[in-house]
Formats: sequence, structure tokens, C-alpha cells
Amino acid sequence: LAAFPALAQQPRFPDKSITVIVPFAAGGPTDVVARQVAEAMSRALGVAVVAENVTGAGGTLGAQRVVQARPDGYTLLLGNIGVATAPTLYRRPPYDPLTQLDAIGLITPVPMTLIGRPDLPAKNLPELLAWLRRPGAEVNIAHAGLGSASQLCGTLLRSILQTPMTPVAFRGTAPVMTEMMAGRIDITCDQTTNTVPYIRDNRVRAFAVTTPQRLAALPDVPTTTEGGLPQLQVTIWHGFYAPHGTPRPVIDRLAQSLRAALADPAVLNRFSDLATTAEPPERATPDAHRAFLEAEIARWRPILSAAGEYAD
Ligand code: MLT
Repeated sequence: LAAFPALAQQPRFPDKSITVIVPFAAGGPTDVVARQVAEAMSRALGVAVVAENVTGAGGTLGAQRVVQARPDGYTLLLGNIGVATAPTLYRRPPYDPLTQLDAIGLITPVPMTLIGRPDLPAKNLPELLAWLRRPGAEVNIAHAGLGSASQLCGTLLRSILQTPMTPVAFRGTAPVMTEMMAGRIDITCDQTTNTVPYIRDNRVRAFAVTTPQRLAALPDVPTTTEGGLPQLQVTIWHGFYAPHGTPRPVIDRLAQSLRAALADPAVLNRFSDLATTAEPPERATPDAHRAFLEAEIARWRPILSAAGEYAD
């Protein structure tokens, strides 16, 4: 190759479209973030960045698809906090995010909302807590599978209240909304990036936001602390990943386009409308993301182990 230096050079990246695997259902919170950011990254990279939903098993099937993909930067994962909780929740974890994925950058920290079907007898959080605790209560709580953000929040709620509820798993929280509006699901805990439009239109009932302060996009919804449930505080997060072994210049190029996307006014406006924010540029980097992922795995492990919810 020394005689033909051009042949030894890396091909230009990217020179074809990039696929972003969304491990949950279309129209849900992960999908909303992925499509918004993918469009802006596509402008920054000059190629199409296309979201593809690969759903099931709490997001772990989609993650496995990326783990097994060629490490060339053309197949990426948009994963949420579940990338950090799945290693604890599965007795035989389907993949190891620290050795089989390479972090690219954090995208957005998203608040959660505790919501219920619109015809629930409880009108606010204190009434909901009484309704959940009433003797003989039969309540179902939806989530997006073991290793999803909604499952994490629901597990925290159930372990705080210590009252029986029946978890019902879906392939994402977009289908939960349909079932909740039809009155078949009682409650769930889900990201504002999914719930805000439904809450604004009174299609579901909002009981609380899980953040220390109220959210500007949902000014009438009290915090869990205001409603008497201060222990339920959770903000989830999203990040981009490539299969482990992706060349560092490719990872860096993707991270650079992510930072461009997170400064794009269209993305910022949409995020703000959905009560979330873009991660600052210093967190949309491979190293900051990797360090945060390690810390999150360590943070949630004892909490989830104590809650005792596992899948084989
Ligand atoms: C989750 O609970 O992890 C998400 O809401 C799933 C989704 O994007 O549908």
C-alpha cells in the first residue's frame, strides 16, 4: 500500500446513510427524540440519518442489533437510561454496554410524569395515593419492558408505596397511551417527551412531575414532593452508541454532528415544548458519556437489586 497512499487512506465518513436503531415503538418518547435529532444530524453530516424501530424486551433487542452490527459508524443506537439498568435487571444480561458499545455522547435528560387514565376516581396525587393504597385495590401499571425508563420509574413507585400493582409490559410507551385513553391501563410513569401533548389535551390525567421543580411546559402539574411523594424523583437520559470497535475518528465525527444537532433551533424548540432540554456540548462527548454511563450503572445497581425485579 505504501506505493499507493490513496488506497491506504480511510474512506470519507460518512459516504452513505446512517441507521439509528430506536429500541422502542414508533411515536413514543425515544422515537420522538431520535427523529428530531436524526434530522438535524443529517443536515450536519450531509447524508440521511434514518430512524428504525427494533422493539422488544425493554429495549434490549434493539441494543443487541447494534452490538452485532459492523463497527463502521453506519448503525447506531439511541438508548435511554435502560442501557444502565439492564445489566442489573437481567440475570443473564443480553449485552454489556461497557464492553460491547462505544459511547458517542449524551443527548437529553428527560423529566418523567406520573399519569393515569382520564376517568380515574383520583383527581390529584394525594387522592391517587389513597386510591392505590385502598384495601383490595386492583391496579395495573404499564411500562415498556424490563430495562425501560417507565419500568424503572414504576419499580421505584411500587417499592416506595409497597402496595401490590400488576405491571403490564408493552413494546414502548406510545401504545400505552392508546390503552390508557381507552381506560384499560390505570397508571404509568413516562417521559414528558411522550406525555406532554396528552396531558395538555386532558386525554390522560397528570398527577405529578418527578422533578424537584415544576416544569415550565406543564405549569399546572405539581411535583411529587408537593403531592406527598418526595421519594419519587427521577430524570432519565438518552445517549448515542456505536458498536464497540468503531474507529475513534468516526465516533468523533458523529459526536461533532450530535453537538451541532443539539444547538439546532428546531431541536431546541421541540425539546422545550416537550419539557426537556439539550445536553450541554461538554456532555455530548464520548468521554463524558462513558463516565456518566459507568456512574449510572453503579448508582442504580443497589437500588434495583433491593427492589428485586429480575428477568432471566
Ligand atoms: C421507556 O419507558 O423506556 C420509553 O418510554 C420507551 C419508549 O420510548 O416507548
